Amino acid sequence: MRIAVLGGGPGGLYLSILMRKIRPDCEVTLYERGAAGDAFGFGVVFSDETLTVFEHADPDTYSQIAERFTRWTDIDIHRRGNKTTSGGHGFSAIGRRELLHILQDRALGLGTDIRFETEAPPVSELGWADLIVGADGASSAVRTALSRDFVPALDRRHCRYVWLGTDLVFDAFKFFIAEPEEGVVQAHAYPYDEGMSTFIVEMHERTWKRLGLAERSIDDAVAWCSETFADALDGHRLYSNKSRWINFVTVRNRRWCVDNVALLGDAAHTAHFSIGSGTKLAMEDAVALAWAFRELGDDVFSATRAYESERRPIVESTQRAAQGSLEWFEGIGRYGGQEPLQFAFNLLTRSRRVTYDNLRLRDPEFVRSVHPDPRPPMFTPLRLRGLELSNRVVVSPMDMYSALDGTPGDFHLVHLGARALGGAGLVMTEMICVSGIGRITPGCAGMYRREHVAAWRRIVSFAHEHGGCAVGAQIGHSGRKGSTKLMWQGIDEPLPAGNWEVIAPSAVPYSRRNQVPRAMTRADMDMVRDEFVWTARGALSAGFDLLELHMAHGYLLSSFLSPLANLRDDEYGGSLVRRARFPLEVLDACRAVWPTDKPISVRISATDWVAGGFDPDQAVAFARMLADHGCDIVDVSSGQVSPLENPAFGRSYQTPFADRIRHEIGMPVIAVGAIASYDDVNTIIAAGRADLCALARPHLYDPHWTLHAAAEQDYDLVEWAPQYQAGSRKPPAGRDRVRAELERTFEEVELTSFESRA
Ligand SMILES: Cc1cc2nc3c(=O)[nH]c(=O)nc-3n(C[C@H](O)[C@H](O)[C@H](O)COP(=O)(O)OP(=O)(O)OC[C@H]3O[C@@H](n4cnc5c(N)ncnc54)[C@H](O)[C@@H]3O)c2cc1C
Ligand SMILES: Cc1cc2nc3c(=O)[nH]c(=O)nc-3n(C[C@H](O)[C@H](O)[C@H](O)COP(=O)(O)O)c2cc1C
Repeated sequence: MRIAVLGGGPGGLYLSILMRKIRPDCEVTLYERGAAGDAFGFGVVFSDETLTVFEHADPDTYSQIAERFTRWTDIDIHRRGNKTTSGGHGFSAIGRRELLHILQDRALGLGTDIRFETEAPPVSELGWADLIVGADGASSAVRTALSRDFVPALDRRHCRYVWLGTDLVFDAFKFFIAEPEEGVVQAHAYPYDEGMSTFIVEMHERTWKRLGLAERSIDDAVAWCSETFADALDGHRLYSNKSRWINFVTVRNRRWCVDNVALLGDAAHTAHFSIGSGTKLAMEDAVALAWAFRELGDDVFSATRAYESERRPIVESTQRAAQGSLEWFEGIGRYGGQEPLQFAFNLLTRSRRVTYDNLRLRDPEFVRSVHPDPRPPMFTPLRLRGLELSNRVVVSPMDMYSALDGTPGDFHLVHLGARALGGAGLVMTEMICVSGIGRITPGCAGMYRREHVAAWRRIVSFAHEHGGCAVGAQIGHSGRKGSTKLMWQGIDEPLPAGNWEVIAPSAVPYSRRNQVPRAMTRADMDMVRDEFVWTARGALSAGFDLLELHMAHGYLLSSFLSPLANLRDDEYGGSLVRRARFPLEVLDACRAVWPTDKPISVRISATDWVAGGFDPDQAVAFARMLADHGCDIVDVSSGQVSPLENPAFGRSYQTPFADRIRHEIGMPVIAVGAIASYDDVNTIIAAGRADLCALARPHLYDPHWTLHAAAEQDYDLVEWAPQYQAGSRKPPAGRDRVRAELERTFEEVELTSFESRA
């Protein structure tokens, strides 16, 4: 087999080594435009778990690399004169130049034909090769040449950063946070040999411009960095090496393999440097591609596809974590109000991979100092006006499509009753529709007739008496997404018969198959506002503790907010202020009848996940309006406004929107969406990302989710209903396995049908 490798970075070199090892008969020609001794950047970090992969793949290079490793376990966060240390982490680093030398020597030793200082020929001139590997880095020419097949997406991020080095050898992974007037500037620094450390300086593009760094030469910029981080550098120098200010570009490709061409490493995908090095991903790709050939012989097509299907989920999961981390650093300025320990915990858990439990294992003392309360963070109470919630868990609203003519029946009593016995501090109802035509489906519950109020009162009384939890009524109007089938008969599909007229801000259907709604007149708005008020009064009479207005998921009030659904040219359409006018009017009217000692929550979709739609900036601005109009807490969901949405699903994927609102406005928020474990809840609460965590599907799986979370944490101060106390012991191991499986599903698999309704 003849192989052309384009690019002699860690990925290309490691692949050459492994291919020559497993197939000594194959010819490998590697083109590298740099000279043998050339290398940019400073140190490369590996986590302990990566190293085992390399140890097995090629013990020879592994032992040479390991011999030169600098190792450490602590992460120090320096901010405002404080140093906060978290221990128990395992890192190793090596200079990039050294790493490349080891790999180059080994590749040459195994007979790779390395052509240094040689521009790689275009793919079209490599007809002789059985396999062509584009390992030519983030600006890959191979990817560009075949972009119609690979379909790359390049996401240029909002921070500027520069890779520098210093001759100060740090004893930990260091984050130095500087706060000049122009904005926050952070340095990520770590040792990589006995004489040097990497020192990456990063800041938001706005800050970079305000500081005038755009106009300065790189030497001037290095001088500025030295001055800004003078305390951190303790008299030592900063060095540059082909350094320049760059915007990180996240590279993704729809396909990594086309015909006999495969992309590998940065050419295929990049992950922000703050969660570990791209070097590790590139070398792991090489292992997977080589191993695919070991398994599948000369079958280039099958081997390259096997490589992609093995690596893609792992890489995408890493990219999700990297995205969380890079966005956290982009928004670091919003955490100015956090005290040092919580800030440190927040920073350490930013990618969602490191959690409260991980950190407790690594450094229990650190976690105790962050959260000295003996109760796990999720079991600390929260007060909203006169309502005291005993813990931070919310049973998220879930439509059961089981009402008869709007009346909640026995199913609702059993369903909500079971969850009320399950330990959550707050149990939310499904969306209670404010009118018959405000229902999504014929099975949706409402509160527009007196018998509805009585039926809800029965459920609330049960929950109060036996569950001891607070109960919230989510009230809403389906708008243009109304008059559709029950969830299990076809989400968002119009009814086969008996459809009712639907109304919306504009005569724009939700999708081509849905009805064209009638654009609302002012008289319609008066009527709908009054229906909300009637329902709010009903909720009060039924005994609910909290009222939530549903302004999310493309239903009526949400569609007023979204520029995709609201095309009005009167005072209710256009700018955000105008689009928000009617939803705020409804809020005002409900607030006026809802008692001042009871809280109101508003659920929003923080983004439509469609270009030109409602977005997180608008969500922050709207949350500010909500706070001004008497809303006490924002329940931050996303999407379901347009069928064209393209959500970035993943574990806790909506929490960053909640976090932003909480810190930029200073108002309480509920985080929701793929929060799978009590560890996630503890992490979110301890980091200050949200005040409450709402869980929907986990409560379908386990109505007693909170009680079980308490048992698993050996926390025995939650009350079980006396009837159930005999079962209040730690669950058997089998159940843990099922739970672990559910958590894995949230981590790896995109949320599909469940998410697309209500
Ligand atoms: C300026 C900079 C500094 C960095 N420093 C560090 C660091 O200190 N630590 C760290 O962990 N990560 C660092 N990274 C990230 C890291 O380099 C990459 O994630 C990792 O090297 C990816 O490996 P790769 O083999 O896929 O690509 P690369 O390492 O980028 O290797 C691609 C190779 O292809 C060669 N090439 C490209 N086009 C052609 C062509 N047409 N013909 C011939 N050769 C070509 C390039 O010269 C390069 O050697 C840095 C990135 C940049 C941009
Ligand atoms: C069966 C089902 C019904 C739902 N009904 C509603 C609803 O009535 N109102 C609402 O705001 N969200 C509704 N949702 C969305 C959930 O409240 C929640 O936001 C979403 O499922 C993400 O949380 P999870 O990942 O914990 O499931 C529903 C979800 C499910 C699974």
